[in-house]
Amino acid sequence: MELVIHDNPAAVADAAANLVAESIGAAHGNFSLGLAGGSTPRATYENLSARDIEWGGVDVWLADERWVAPDSAHSNGHTVDTVLFSRTAADFHRPAWSPTMDAEESAANYGRLLRTLHRESRPDLVLLGMGSDGHTASLFPGSRALNETQHWYVSNTIPETGEDRLTATFPMLHHAALIVVLVVGTAKAEALHASLNRQTPAGRLGEGDARVLWFVDRGAASLVSS
Ligand code: 6PG
Repeated sequence: MELVIHDNPAAVADAAANLVAESIGAAHGNFSLGLAGGSTPRATYENLSARDIEWGGVDVWLADERWVAPDSAHSNGHTVDTVLFSRTAADFHRPAWSPTMDAEESAANYGRLLRTLHRESRPDLVLLGMGSDGHTASLFPGSRALNETQHWYVSNTIPETGEDRLTATFPMLHHAALIVVLVVGTAKAEALHASLNRQTPAGRLGEGDARVLWFVDRGAASLVSS
């Protein structure tokens, strides 16, 4: 795993947006981009929304989603769509939801869709955040999804709150070509230090074939020895 320390949160968002724009530009279509929720990734999406990017041919999917209605303000897909993709030619693939649908069924269906999308390719780039407990996507410490070894997408429950989520699993995330984890603020410093020592779910991102870049600001890096 590689650590890149930026001056401040805006510099993290700008560097991540540059990387996304350059990667898409170099791919000339047929690009797979996975996105997470959270305020830190959102800053990158807002930065991207101001750029002139050719989104045609880009398949966008969610690294995790809350089990809420698609138009809920708590929905990662709703946020990403509103901030960025409602005005682009990207193919934005979201998990299905209905009041009578089972979260596990939706996760399984979405996982099959993602496997079909990546039948002959790897996810090119996945943007993730990290919580102060070291979770990433919706892979929370002590949660069942951490032990998934086959399925690419499962439902998961946050142990502390009982909230249901859908999340990409390590089998899928480890299959990506590149993962960029966006972390800012001193509140994340302990979790970042633990993650770089592979002691958190986010730290396990480095266990697979994916190249993992940590784009962090100086506050988050305050406990990382130079
Ligand atoms: C979610 C995310 C989650 C998020 C981190 C960081 O649905 O909330 O996918 O993994 O990326 O919790 O969120 P912040 O950047 O807001 O701290």
